[in-house]
Amino acid sequence: MKILFFDTKSYDKESFDAALSSFPSVEIEYTKSDLDPRTAVLAEGFDAVCAFVNSDVGTQTLDILHGKGIKLILMRCAGFNNVDLDTAKKYNIPVKRVPGYSPEAVAEHAMALALASNRRLHKAYNKVRENDFSLSGLMGFNFYQKTAGIIGTGKIGAAMCRICRGFGMKVIAYDVYENESLKDFVEYVSLEKLLSESDVISLHCPLMDSTYHIINIDTIKQMKDGVVLVNTSRGALVKTDDLIEGIRMHKFAGVGLDVYEEETDNVFEDRSDEILEHSTTARLLSFPNVMITSHQGFFTREALQAIADITLQNAMDYEAGKKSSNDVI
Ligand code: NAI
Repeated sequence: MKILFFDTKSYDKESFDAALSSFPSVEIEYTKSDLDPRTAVLAEGFDAVCAFVNSDVGTQTLDILHGKGIKLILMRCAGFNNVDLDTAKKYNIPVKRVPGYSPEAVAEHAMALALASNRRLHKAYNKVRENDFSLSGLMGFNFYQKTAGIIGTGKIGAAMCRICRGFGMKVIAYDVYENESLKDFVEYVSLEKLLSESDVISLHCPLMDSTYHIINIDTIKQMKDGVVLVNTSRGALVKTDDLIEGIRMHKFAGVGLDVYEEETDNVFEDRSDEILEHSTTARLLSFPNVMITSHQGFFTREALQAIADITLQNAMDYEAGKKSSNDVI
C-alpha cells in the first residue's frame, strides 16, 4: 500500500519510519504540505492519505481525492470533526483513526501543569535566571492528603486518578458513566460536590454540548478558594472570560492549561499586536499563577510510536478487509 503522508513534522517521520519495519508492504511518501483542496491533487498514484487534526478533509478535498483514486483515509489522531463523513461515505472511502494512544502521556502532563502552576516553577525558573534567588511569590501547598477532583474518568482521567492516588491524595470524580476499574480508590460524587471539595480539579471529559463551558463563573464560584485548575482536554470546556474573572477574584492558587479557546485561531502564529491585544489567551498569560503550554499533552516518544503503529495497523486491517473499533466509517 502506498500512503501519502500530509503535514509531516520531523518527529512524525521518525516514528513512522521506525514503525515501517513491522509493516513491509507499506510505503510512505512524506510531504510537509497539509491536506486541503489545493494539495489533494498530490495524491495521484497513492492508495491512501494520512492526515491530522488540522487537515481539511472536507467535501472539496474528498471530491479530488476520489478523482485521484484514493481508497482510504488514515487519520493519525483521535478526532475526525475535520472529515466530511457523508462525502467519504458517498465515495465509499473508509476513514480510520487512532482513538487512544497513551493516556498516561496526557495525564502526566496534567499533573506537571498542576505542580508547576502550584509551585510557580515557570516564575521560579525566570527569577533564578535573572540571579534573583528570593522565594517571594513562590509559595505553594502540599498535594499530599488534599483532594483531587477529576471530571471525566475515561482513559486519560483514569490515568490521572492513579497519578493523584500515587501522590497520597483523596480522589473524587464526576462522570456520566462510572469507571468500574477505579472503584477501589475513587469516590464518584456530583459535580457540585466535586467543585466545592476539591483542592485540585482536572478536566478530562470530551467537548460536547453538555460539557461546553462546564467551567464558567457559576461553577468557578462553587470552587474552594485557592484551588488549582488544570485543563488538558479541550479549550472550550472553560469559558475564558469567566476564568479571568475568577483569577481576578483570587479564586485560584494555580491554573494550568494545555488547551484554550483560541487555539484554532492560531493567535500565536500570527503575532500581530492587534490580535494579541484582543487575545484572551494573552490576557491569561499576564497572571503569574497561570501556566500555559501549547497542546503538547500527547507529545511523548511512546505516544508518537503508538500513533504510528496503530495507524499502520489500520492500513493493514483495511487491506485484510478487517473491521475494527478504529473505523469511523
Ligand atoms: P475517553 O472517551 O476515554 O473519556 C472521556 C470520559 O468523559 C468518559 O468517561 C465519558 O463518560 C466522560 N464524559 C462524557 N460526558 C461527560 C460529562 N458531561 N461530564 C463528565 N464526564 C463526561 O477520552 P480520553 O481518551 O480520556 O480523552 C479525554 C479528552 O482528552 C479528549 O476528549 C480530548 O479532548 C483530550 N485529549 C487531549 C490531548 C492533549 O494533547 N492535550 C490528547 C488526547 C486527548
